Amino acid sequence: MTDTRETCLAIFGGSGIYEMPGLTIEDERDVETPWGKPSAPVTVGRLNGVRVLFLSRHGKGHSIPPSDLNARANVAAAKMLGATDMLSLSACGSFREELAPGHFVAVDQFVDRTKGRTPSFFETGCVAHVSIAHPVCSRLSEEAAQAAEAAGAKVHRGGTYLVMEGPQFSTKAESELYRSWGMDVIGMTAMPEAKLAREAELPYAILAMVTDYDCWHEDNGAVDVASVLAILGQNRDKGHKTVGEITKMIGTERTPSPDGIDTCLDYAIVTAPEA
Ligand code: ADE
Repeated sequence: MTDTRETCLAIFGGSGIYEMPGLTIEDERDVETPWGKPSAPVTVGRLNGVRVLFLSRHGKGHSIPPSDLNARANVAAAKMLGATDMLSLSACGSFREELAPGHFVAVDQFVDRTKGRTPSFFETGCVAHVSIAHPVCSRLSEEAAQAAEAAGAKVHRGGTYLVMEGPQFSTKAESELYRSWGMDVIGMTAMPEAKLAREAELPYAILAMVTDYDCWHEDNGAVDVASVLAILGQNRDKGHKTVGEITKMIGTERTPSPDGIDTCLDYAIVTAPEA
């Protein structure tokens, strides 16, 4: 027997991510989770018949910096509202000439260089260790890549995303160091979000939109917010179309992730039940 559930795709993105053609908004949920409130009320709706949840990751008017995001509340809110899958859309800098501004990267690995963010739902009292060896869901990531292509984007499959603390961009020495490590892109938001999605047994994929060449690139100089915002603005439509296309692709009936993500806690908890 095939285990199916109604698909519920949670999309974490920039402000205005839910302002897209074809979306029927059913509710704005002001969720309170055991870890506090998410960045913003969650927009609940249907797109091409598929249940969708939208969260503006940085809150109203982009007011929450990366270090202050309550990623636990954000992921918990999606889970509490019934998400079966989670797609993250975020801006990134590029360490490779061929990953040009405006391109999308379906990232499949991370190096987490964040400091002081709380990376787990589990705390003293309940110890659990999930595997994060393969941090994205292979099926959802491929669906996201195909959806972005159908939306007209140039997509690169696979790539390592270095997650830095910020909020300052990197120094040139750091940028060159990360390039020498073989990193592909850099951003400030994907961790601990991806780790928490795994602990919540949510198949996770990320489309990172390249907005700049960080500061290693001789022809481009330092990163500045104006250029990042300009590229995001020029590609907003492609982001919206990608979300529309992925809902068409994944449909309303969802089978469990081929990577076993939906059940990854089964053998992860170490603490004895009576402890
Ligand atoms: N987000 C967009 N571009 C970035 C960069 N170069 N470094 C870190 N985060 C980014």
